[in-house]
Amino acid sequence: MFNKDNTKFKKSESRIYLASPTMHGEELEYVTEAFTTNWMSTVGKNIDEVERLTAEKVGRKYSVGLSCGTSALHLAMKIVGVKPGEKVFCSDMTFDATVNPVVYEGGVPVFIDTEYDTWNMDPVALEKAFEIYPEVRIVVTAHLYGTPGKVDELKAVCKKHNALLVEDAAESFGATYRGAQTGTFGDVSIISFNGNKIITGSAGGALLTDDEEVANKVRKWSTQSRESAPWYQHEELGYNYRMSNVIAGVIRGQIPHLEEHIARKKEIYERYEKGFKGLPIKMNPIDLKNSEPNYWLSCAIIDPEAMCKQVRGETDVLYAPEKGKSCPTEILDTLMSYNMEGRPIWKPMHMQPIYRMNGFVTREGNGRAKTNAYIAGGVKGKDGRPLDVGMDIFARGLCLPSDIKMTDEQQDTIIDVVRSCFE
Ligand SMILES: Cc1ncc(COP(=O)(O)O)c(C=O)c1O
Repeated sequence: MFNKDNTKFKKSESRIYLASPTMHGEELEYVTEAFTTNWMSTVGKNIDEVERLTAEKVGRKYSVGLSCGTSALHLAMKIVGVKPGEKVFCSDMTFDATVNPVVYEGGVPVFIDTEYDTWNMDPVALEKAFEIYPEVRIVVTAHLYGTPGKVDELKAVCKKHNALLVEDAAESFGATYRGAQTGTFGDVSIISFNGNKIITGSAGGALLTDDEEVANKVRKWSTQSRESAPWYQHEELGYNYRMSNVIAGVIRGQIPHLEEHIARKKEIYERYEKGFKGLPIKMNPIDLKNSEPNYWLSCAIIDPEAMCKQVRGETDVLYAPEKGKSCPTEILDTLMSYNMEGRPIWKPMHMQPIYRMNGFVTREGNGRAKTNAYIAGGVKGKDGRPLDVGMDIFARGLCLPSDIKMTDEQQDTIIDVVRSCFE
C-alpha cells in the first residue's frame, strides 16, 4: 500500500535513476585531446575512431557517426526511399523516435502489434499486415529495452514480401541474436548514444551498413550535401546531422566499457528477478535460447489477477489501492516517494494521439476496430489472450530503476518497496 509519509524504508538521499550516464575517465582525455588540438568540429580523430570501433564491434563494414539516433533513422528512411503517402510497417511498442523519421519523409506508419515473448514486433502480426497492405515495401523494427526481437521470423516475412528492413538498435547496442550483434540485421541499422543509453556521448548516433555507396551518401547528406567543388555547391537537399568530435570523444572513451556496463545491467536484472520471487510479477521476458540482451532496462509486468484498478487518461492516471494487489502507477509513485525513478512502459504508438488515425495490425488482422477500449485484457483474441498486446503490456508493465551506479543495498530497498505495494 502507498506509504504516504515514506518512512517505512530508507529514503535514498540522492535520486536513483532509471538509467543515467556513467563516466570512467578516458572520455575526458579524448575530449581534452579534441580541445587542445582545436578539433572542436564535426571532423576529427574521435569521430574516425568511433566509426571504426562501432563498425568493428557490431560487425558491419561501415558506421557513419551522426548527431543522434533520430537523425540516423531519418537518413535510413531516405536510403530506403520512403515516399510521400507511402505506408511503412513500424514497431508499435517503442519510443516515438523509431517512427517519426518515417513521417519526416512523408511516409505513413502502420503499427504492428507486439508479441509477449520478447516485447518486440510480432512476426505473425507482420505477416497479417502484408495480407492487408501487400504494397508495403519497408519495415522498421526496434529491439525494445535491449532485448532482441524475433529477428529470423521478421526477416523471413520481409524476404517473402520483398520488403526492406530498417533496424532500430538504439537501445540494444551490444546485444546479440544467434551470435550476431543487433545492428547487423537491417538493410540499414542504427544505434544511439543518447544520455540514457548503455554507453553514451551525451548525444550521438550511428548508421550501420555494409554498402560503401550508402555510407558515402549518408555522410554527404549529413554534411549539407556538399558537392566536391571549390565553393559550396549543392545538387540535393542536405542536413546538419554529423557527429561532433567532442561528443565522439566521450563515446570513444565509453566504448571500452560496453561489456562491463552490460555485465552490471545483467546483474541488476538477475537481482530483481531473484528479489521478486513469490510476488505476482515477472521480469521482462528474454529469449535466452536465441539471444543475449544488453539488459539496458530491467522491467516488470504484474500478473493480470494481481492488478488493482488503474485508469489512465491522456495525461493523468488514477488507481484504487487494493490489499494484495498493485499496479504500475502505485509502484512508480511509491518508488518516487523514496527518490527512486522508474517509468511506465513506452506507451504504444497506436495509442498516441498523434498516430491515432494510423493503421494498427494485431495477430488477428486489422486491430483498430476492436481495440478502442483502454482496458488491458478488455478484448481477447481467439487464443484467449488480450488481442492488443502492446496495450496490455503498457497497462501492467513498468521500467525499474536500472542505473549501473545503484548499490546492491539501494536495489534491495527498491525490491522491498515493490514488495510492500502488494501487501
Ligand atoms: C528505440 C529508440 N529509437 C530511437 C531513439 C532515438 O535516439 P536519439 O535519442 O539518439 O535520437 C531512441 C532513444 O532515444 C530509442 O530508444
